[in-house]
Amino acid sequence: MKLKTWFIVAATALTVFAAQAQEMSNDDIANRIKPVGQIHVAGAEAAGPAAAGGGAKSGEDVYNSACVACHSSGVLGAPKVHVAADWQPRLDEKGLDGVWQNALNGINAMPPRGTCASCSDDEIKAAIEYMIEGI
Ligand code: HEC
Repeated sequence: MKLKTWFIVAATALTVFAAQAQEMSNDDIANRIKPVGQIHVAGAEAAGPAAAGGGAKSGEDVYNSACVACHSSGVLGAPKVHVAADWQPRLDEKGLDGVWQNALNGINAMPPRGTCASCSDDEIKAAIEYMIEGI
């Protein structure tokens, strides 16, 4: 009898604990999602007026986070940022839309979206426009 009572108490406590644990993990998830949103907005603000427009990342932001690794020094033959000689032949041949499509889909050693799976089509385009700025 005594053992059975203990068992019921223990089982009840476990159930309550489990319910709380479930609640806590939901809170955890909510908390985890929230700061990401805040960081995103803060980043957009830090980028200045170019980033204005619904929290989209600026071309410079996208370039610095996803493209710089290859496009600053020309890894694997990547056209280098702001180097007209690297970009002009591609733009002459395919136009901005052509190179944009290739950046979205990938071309040779250039990975689709430059590995930025979370970048929108427009953010990829903005990064290209940043790389060819002044050319
Ligand atoms: C892993 C290295 C790497 C990363 C990261 C990378 N690229 Fe590239 N990219 C390349 C290489 C290599 C080429 C040249 C491909 C070729 O024409 O053979 C290229 C070419 C391009 C071209 C020209 C395509 C054409 O049709 O001529 C564009 C536009 C481009 N990249 C945009 C981007 C953007 C935007 C990002 C970031 C979001 C990015 N790349 C990130 C390696 C990379």
